[in-house]
Amino acid sequence: MVILGIHDGADSSVALMINGKIVYASQEERFTRLKLEFGLPINAIKDCMNTYKIVSSEIDEVALATKYVNPLSQITKREANFTTNDWIEEQEKFWKPRFYQNKNPNYWNIFKNKKKFSYDKIYNYKNVLNSYQNKKNMEIFLQRRINTISNVLKIDKKKIKVYLHEDCHINYAYYFYKERKNGICITNEGMGDFSRGSVSTVKNNKFKLISFSKDNHLGNIYKWTTLLLGMKPAQHEYKVMGLAPYASDFEIDKCYKTYEDLLRVNKLNVNYKKKPKDIFYHLQKNFMKSRFDGIAGALQKFLENKLFDWFLSCSKILKLKYIYFSGGVAQNIKAAMYLNSKKKFTKVIIPPSAGDSSISIGACFKSMNDYCEKKFISKNKSIKPIQSLYLGYKNSSNDVKKFIIKKKLSDKYIIKKNVTSNKIALKIYNGKIVGRCVGRMEFGLRALGNRSILCDPRYFSNIRKINTKIKNRDFWMPFTPTILSEDFNKYIKNTKNLNASFMSMAFETKKLAQKDLQAAIHPADYTARPQKLSKNDNESYYNLIKEFKKLSGVGALLNTSLNLHGLPVARNIEDAMYVFENSELDILIVENYYFEKNL
Ligand SMILES: [Fe+2]
Repeated sequence: MVILGIHDGADSSVALMINGKIVYASQEERFTRLKLEFGLPINAIKDCMNTYKIVSSEIDEVALATKYVNPLSQITKREANFTTNDWIEEQEKFWKPRFYQNKNPNYWNIFKNKKKFSYDKIYNYKNVLNSYQNKKNMEIFLQRRINTISNVLKIDKKKIKVYLHEDCHINYAYYFYKERKNGICITNEGMGDFSRGSVSTVKNNKFKLISFSKDNHLGNIYKWTTLLLGMKPAQHEYKVMGLAPYASDFEIDKCYKTYEDLLRVNKLNVNYKKKPKDIFYHLQKNFMKSRFDGIAGALQKFLENKLFDWFLSCSKILKLKYIYFSGGVAQNIKAAMYLNSKKKFTKVIIPPSAGDSSISIGACFKSMNDYCEKKFISKNKSIKPIQSLYLGYKNSSNDVKKFIIKKKLSDKYIIKKNVTSNKIALKIYNGKIVGRCVGRMEFGLRALGNRSILCDPRYFSNIRKINTKIKNRDFWMPFTPTILSEDFNKYIKNTKNLNASFMSMAFETKKLAQKDLQAAIHPADYTARPQKLSKNDNESYYNLIKEFKKLSGVGALLNTSLNLHGLPVARNIEDAMYVFENSELDILIVENYYFEKNL
C-alpha cells in the first residue's frame, strides 16, 4: 500500500507511506529556498519519488490534506511572502475598513501588484479571487487543486482523497509515537477546515469529534501580538515565547488583564468573554503604555493558563487524562512544559512540528486509519510509529564531487576527506564552529545533527559568536543542546518520561546544565529544548559527541540549524556552502568531505 500525503498550504510538504510506515517527508521550502513555501510541493514530490524509485502508477492513493484553502492566501503565498510591513498594510487597508468603516475592500487589488512576491503559478485562480474566504470559491478551488494534482502526477482523480485539516492534525499527533492510549485529541490553531479549536476522544484507536469552535482565538491572539511587537505573524511566535521569560511580574501584571478579559473556557470550548471588533487594533489600543517584555510575558502566561483551564475542563468532562495536542499553538513548547508540569494530566503528548507542515504525514496516517477500519485489520500493527525524522533529501557523493570541481573550492579552502570524528571534536573543543550537512535531511522545524551548526556548549561567548557572525539571530533567543542519552538525566528534569528525541519539548534543567550547557539553555529561566541522542538514532553524530565528551567531560553539543537568518535550513551542498561562505563558520562537513577556511 503506497500513500503519498500532500499538504499544499503554507509550509507545504510531502510524505510517503509504504505499508504503514512513513519513509519520506520533506517541506517544499528546502527546495525552493522560500521559507514557508506554498502550493503543490512539486520539487519535494520529485525527490520523494526518486528516492524510493516510485512511479505514479504505483501510488495507491494521494492523501490531500485540507478541504478549504483560501485562494487569496494561496496565490499571494501570504505567510511566506509577507514582510511585517505587508502584514500591517493588510491590517490598515483590508481589515480596518471592514471592521471599523463598514467597507468591503478587494483583497486582491491590494496585493496583486507586489513585485517582490513570488505568486503561485501552478493552480488555476480564475474567478476565485473576488472575495476573501468565500466558501463557494474554496469549493471550486478544491476541484482545481485535485485536477492539477491529477495532471501533474498523471494519476486518476479517483485515487486522490481529501482529508479534513483537523483529522490530519489529530491522526499525526496520535500515531506519531508508539504510546497510543485512550485519551483526548485537541487541536488549536489560526484556522483549520472547520475550527480554531477542536476536541475529539480516541478510544481503542477510534476517534470521535466531540466539540469544536471558531471562537477559540488563542492562536490568533498570539499571532497578532507577534505583529504588534514588530515581528512576523505565523512565523515569529517562537521569538515572543523566547522573550517572555525576561519579563518581570510587575510588567506582566500590567498587561495580563487585557488578555484575560478576552477569552473564557466554557466546558469543552474556549470562546470570547466579550468580543472585540477585532484583535489587532484592540490590543494595540490597550497596550499603548505597555512595555514589550511585559506584553510577551503576559501573553505567554495567558496562553499557559487558558490551555490548562481548557484541558482540565475537557479532562474532567471526558474522564480521560492522556492528551494529544496538535495545530500551530501546540508548537509553543513552554506552554507544553507548563501543561506537563501538572499532575492532573498523565501526559500531554505533542509530536514534532505539530503545525501545518506535518499534515502531509497526518493525511497518510488518516488514510491508513480509514483503510484499517474498512478492512478490519489492527491499526496498532499496521500503522507504524515514527522513530526517525531523518526522512528527507540526501546529497549524492557524485553531486558533492561535481560541485567542488565546478566551484573550484579547493582553491579557496583546505579540503580533506574522511576526517575522523575525534579530529572534528578536537576542533570544536578548541573553539571552532562547525557546520554539518550529512546523511538524510531532517523533516520539520528542528535540525537534529544532519543539517546543524555545532559548537562547544560550555561557553557563553559562543552565543555571541553565532548570533552576530553566523546567523544574525536575535540576542534574546536561546540555543539548544544535543545530549547523549546516557548523560541526559544529569542535565534534564523529565519526570513524565516524555520523548525528547526530536527537540519538540522544553524541560527544566538541573544545576549541572547551568554550568556545562550554559550556551545551550535559555539564559533567563534555564529551560532547554534538548535532543536526546542514542547511538541507534544517528551513529556518526553520536560518535562525534562521544569524542567531544572524551576531551571535555561533557556529553553534549550546542546544536542550531544550518541556515542564515530568515532562510530555510540547508538541504544540499550548495545551500550548506552558501552558509559557510556568507558567515564566519569555521568548518563545514558535507558527507565525507571536510572544508576549513584557509586563514
Ligand atoms: Fe493546522
